[in-house]
Amino acid sequence: MSKQASIHYNGSTFDLPIIDGSEGECAIDIKSLRSTTQLITLDPGFKNTGSCESSITFLDGEKGVLRYRGYPIEELAEKANFLEVAYLLIFGELPTQEQHDVFLTDIKEESYIDEDLKKILESFPKSAHPMGVLSSLTSALTAFNPASVDVDSNEQMYNAIVRIMAKLPILVSWVFLKRMGLPLKYGDYSLGYVENIARMMFRKPNKEYVPNPIIDDALTKLLILHADHEQNCSTSTVRIVGSSHAGLFASVSAGISALWGPLHGGANQAVVEMLEAIKQDGGDTKKYLDKAKDKSDPFRLMGFGHRVYKNFDPRAKIIKKTADEVLGDLGVVDPVLDIAKSLEQEALNDSYFVDRKLYPNVDFYSGIIYRAMGIPTEMFTVMFALGRLPGWIAQWREMRTRKEPIGRPRQIYVGHNKRSFVPMDKR
Ligand code: ACO
Repeated sequence: MSKQASIHYNGSTFDLPIIDGSEGECAIDIKSLRSTTQLITLDPGFKNTGSCESSITFLDGEKGVLRYRGYPIEELAEKANFLEVAYLLIFGELPTQEQHDVFLTDIKEESYIDEDLKKILESFPKSAHPMGVLSSLTSALTAFNPASVDVDSNEQMYNAIVRIMAKLPILVSWVFLKRMGLPLKYGDYSLGYVENIARMMFRKPNKEYVPNPIIDDALTKLLILHADHEQNCSTSTVRIVGSSHAGLFASVSAGISALWGPLHGGANQAVVEMLEAIKQDGGDTKKYLDKAKDKSDPFRLMGFGHRVYKNFDPRAKIIKKTADEVLGDLGVVDPVLDIAKSLEQEALNDSYFVDRKLYPNVDFYSGIIYRAMGIPTEMFTVMFALGRLPGWIAQWREMRTRKEPIGRPRQIYVGHNKRSFVPMDKR
């Protein structure tokens, strides 16, 4: 007999089926709950709610496991290139050399943007936050590519995927160049996907561009580590926006806005700002740990804690090692890295953080690497968005091809009961 859970309510018993995941996770299937019991579930922040079945990413927060399509993140970060990982996430299998090369060639073919989009970019003040600009430009791409995608057509789906994979890196580099006051240019399409992104961002108008393999490798690793993370805030946003059958650009634009917040992707910027503030304040890490523990103080230790990881974030382990290597290879001495290491050590030995299972997350060290590469702080979350793009696409595609219904949660209303309108002069 298949497993089920029972609810006893109002003198009756209702049986609900249990759904088994492929890694032993179980869920109560409540699809029939309201129609049979009149009850709904209440779970602010969705801490206990599965929004979908997915075959893309598996993570076990207790054991610190993260796998894309079954492959451990450690192996992918060590051995794969970013486009291979993107292909894996989106299409389900690692590409053959031929599939990889065709994907890259198709992306190169689409690597241009309507010049009119530059006018929109130029109308933003230079001081505008790059995440706001990127989200707006991504949404604006819809206007320049208005054809909607027939999700039942493999060809149309593939073309939409190629288009956004091609155009987002150009937008990212343009947002960066605009911020730096540099001319907006295209890349060199004889290069690989990540190598070309590095060139678009780091080429100076007055100098021959010389690629730096250390930067290309570090960028590849960071983008792979950020590529997907199952149903996090921005990915859930992409899926829910897409569930209304909004297009891919519009859905990704919404994901970028969700990622921007300091409790999510914006944490990489917030971490470096926090470490800088500690440095300016004399480097007293204990003072900031005490602030983080003080419930009357809104300060949180940025880059610490995670909704799902309650042991360690496997991405943080890889990134910490990469930070040491990159700073060493580039010959960068950054006192902020020393502050980060002391803060981490002290927090890991402090019962407040140990008891609450608060460990460094992926963002604790990523900002330090971006900084060593010469990327300004406000661009860190934009780099995260670039890495997360394949994950958003994969999740959007999965949601659309599985014909998931529109995302529309319910609520428990706790407001006023019915009352009569009072004219303004009587209030
Ligand atoms: N500093 C101090 N205390 C913390 C921190 C922190 N960074 N994170 C959690 N806590 C405490 C909470 O105050 C709470 O304490 P209490 O039980 O005494 O009330 C307890 O730990 C549980 O925290 P919640 O906020 O309930 O955990 P939740 O799962 O909702 O939040 C989150 C997770 C948002 C990541 C949180 O840990 C946080 O704000 N961290 C800092 C921001 C950050 O680094 N975000 C990046 C996440 S990774 C990513 O998005 C890519």
